[in-house]
Amino acid sequence: MTRETARLNRRGFLGAAGLAGAGLASAATGVRAAPPATPDPLITDVQDWARVLGDGVQARPYGSPSQFEKHVVRRDVEWLTASRESSVNFTPLHELDGIITPSGLCFERHHGGIAEIDPNKHRLMINGLVDKPMVFTVEDLKRFPGRQNHAYFLECAANSGMEWRGAQLNGCQFTHGMVHNVWYAGIPLKTLLDEAGVKTNAKWLLAEGADSSAMTRSIPLEKGLKDCLVVWSMNGEMLRPEQGYPLRLVVPGWEGNMWVKWLRRIEVGDQPWHHREETSKYTDLLADGRSRRFTFIMDAKSVVTNPSPQAPLKHKGPNVLSGLAWSGRGKIGRVDVSMDGGRNWQTARIDGPVLPMSLTRFYVDFDWNGQELMIQSRAIDETGYVQPTKDELRKIRGVNSIYHNNGIQTWLVRANGETENVEIG
Ligand code: MTE
Ligand code: CO
Repeated sequence: MTRETARLNRRGFLGAAGLAGAGLASAATGVRAAPPATPDPLITDVQDWARVLGDGVQARPYGSPSQFEKHVVRRDVEWLTASRESSVNFTPLHELDGIITPSGLCFERHHGGIAEIDPNKHRLMINGLVDKPMVFTVEDLKRFPGRQNHAYFLECAANSGMEWRGAQLNGCQFTHGMVHNVWYAGIPLKTLLDEAGVKTNAKWLLAEGADSSAMTRSIPLEKGLKDCLVVWSMNGEMLRPEQGYPLRLVVPGWEGNMWVKWLRRIEVGDQPWHHREETSKYTDLLADGRSRRFTFIMDAKSVVTNPSPQAPLKHKGPNVLSGLAWSGRGKIGRVDVSMDGGRNWQTARIDGPVLPMSLTRFYVDFDWNGQELMIQSRAIDETGYVQPTKDELRKIRGVNSIYHNNGIQTWLVRANGETENVEIG
């Protein structure tokens, strides 16, 4: 593809000039509607849904999406993991807009299946290097002063892990869908630690889940005191069982594995525990055979969600490119988009809230005349960190890694609009 064919054509925005011959292209945007001369039964006839009295208010006491949106679901990749219980599914990023992931579409990662917990029987214990070990009920926590609410992204360290050596999975749902962004309410972990009284030699925390995998992770005390939350609420209602009902730990900006679900215990200690999930898993095997130990912070990353393999381009002329960017180090500062595989870049338009450690939405309004495109996005966070190419990552980390792949993604848009996961060397 040449530099010329890939250059953006902004004709749509000067579209008034094209009106004379073009029928109904809107003067403002160049978006073309159907010609008015053909009688359209969708305009002229009374439709079925207007002939009957619809359902009343209580027909759907807990609402769900339209029956025409049934394809918008979490999906898994059958061959990816050995068992259904210890498995993962993926957020349909290409079907979503804005920055909040609907609760029913948040990807799930369970190591021992979903624990179905009666909140009246659930307890949270704080023990170890504390003055007073304590046990709380969910009701106790809801009465604590200092409740907060925040939107944060959760990204599994294994997100994009299949893509280390080359392009693999055909859809941003599968390459990037181990991320969700919801609005939490809960109390700072610090409040509970202060209540129990942390001893002066304390340095680390161990968070433990009540599920059958009894997942545990070591967390530096400093992070626990800084911004971790114990939450019971997501997107305004109680957590879903899949997301850790009735209590979950929120560890803003850090790898998803540390966000222990069905949280039942916080132990305070003076060194990390080195349990399974922080030794044999979630460490990064380097080229020389050594492993990188803790990689807590999720570095800046982005992906174009539309177009993407599951959401090809359907129309020539004006189109809206859209995507998500995030950083575990704070706010997103800027997002660049390339249409020609990284030769030329333009600054994307960020819209909506730009919150620290939250997904951030970007757009590029562009005109497509049927040329091949190689679409990429590159996130830059407020610390100035620039999302690397996959080659740059592999130069430092080798090809054995699975976790912590924040490399730049490329989508090839063909002349017929079909879109594919590719890699350019
Ligand atoms: N907590 C418990 N108790 N059990 C688990 O299996 N999985 C971890 C983490 N917390 C897990 C857990 C992993 S690897 C990730 S990526 C996130 O939860 C997934 O959170 P989600 O299911 O809300 O997407
Ligand atoms: Co994970």
